[in-house]
Amino acid sequence: MSKIEINNVYKIFGNNPKSVLPMVKEGSTKDEILEKTGHTVGLDNVSLKIEEGETFVCMGLSGSGKSTLIRHLNRLIDPTDGEILVEGTNVMSLDKEKLIEFRRHKMSMVFQRFGLFPHKTVLQNVGYGLEMQGKAENERNKISMEKIDAVGLNGFENQYPNQLSGGMQQRVGLARALATDTDIMLMDEAFSALDPLIRSDMQKQLIDLQSELKKTIVFITHDLDESLRLGDHIGILNSGKLVQVGTPEEIIMHPADDYVKAFVKDVNRAKVIKAKIIMKNLNESENIDKSNVIKVNEDQFIEEFLPQIVCSDSNCEVVDKNGNIKGYITNQELQSSLTKS
Ligand SMILES: Nc1ncnc2c1ncn2[C@@H]1O[C@H](COP(=O)(O)OP(=O)(O)O)[C@@H](O)[C@H]1O
Ligand SMILES: [Mg+2]
Repeated sequence: MSKIEINNVYKIFGNNPKSVLPMVKEGSTKDEILEKTGHTVGLDNVSLKIEEGETFVCMGLSGSGKSTLIRHLNRLIDPTDGEILVEGTNVMSLDKEKLIEFRRHKMSMVFQRFGLFPHKTVLQNVGYGLEMQGKAENERNKISMEKIDAVGLNGFENQYPNQLSGGMQQRVGLARALATDTDIMLMDEAFSALDPLIRSDMQKQLIDLQSELKKTIVFITHDLDESLRLGDHIGILNSGKLVQVGTPEEIIMHPADDYVKAFVKDVNRAKVIKAKIIMKNLNESENIDKSNVIKVNEDQFIEEFLPQIVCSDSNCEVVDKNGNIKGYITNQELQSSLTKS
């Protein structure tokens, strides 16, 4: 069973969405629907599965339906048609009490504009979800301090949000989401308001945290580089339609249509392709010269080891974090992977 399953979800905004549904199902476009009926198609027949412990990135241009999609998961939005299953439970079947319970214990959300309480300290902000869960102050503070530590904000626990930079405020938002210890984290353009360097730093921090926590993360962005860096799978939305779902490798190597191609065209491949994506497995590596190899970690991005490999004219031996050999990349393949499309 998948952690999250979305089946044939339609969302139409307007006065009488159900009346417009047949037109959408018969294939009218978002533009036609708007012109003829004044309704806006938010999602058009979206189906996807998100597995436990993965980071699923949902990407698309502004207005493509990303926020609409993520808000269906914790039922901030009800679908016009279709079903949303979380751990096999249809979220539409939850009554008011069960829904509150579900939002407090199953899913936490990190927002683009941080969503912090200005009159609460960092510690109180981080502990807010725990307070909602009914935890006592002592316990709240203990857990909150652990999470403040995990996001590198030690020493700032008694400050107020307006005393912190944007990047630090976003760390508070992240710590708050981590504190409730929900299995599922929803992140809607969580890093989009940050400066590039701080953003890259936050991405790294999320990758590091996720390698330990193994939460199910649904991460929304309009940025392909960010998608490729963070996502185990990426779903690409265009005008409410899901046009492609795939691993970063599949998206880069086989873009499904012109819309995806336009995204992929300018990507810095060295920054987003990991060693494990282009390596040959052991059983495909018999003929590779292993006399002059440099070890690289399977999760390293090409740019981290490219200069060293090129300068020493060696091949890569790809290892996991325990040092076990997983595969090889030849010097030639490494270089050609940067230009293939
Ligand atoms: N509450 C709403 N009422 C009417 N239209 C909406 C509403 N929310 C979103 N939309 C429309 O649905 C489409 C998808 O919006 P959204 O999910 O916010 O896109 P994204 O998050 O990808 O930028 C857009 O055309 C938007 O204008
Ligand atoms: Mg949005």
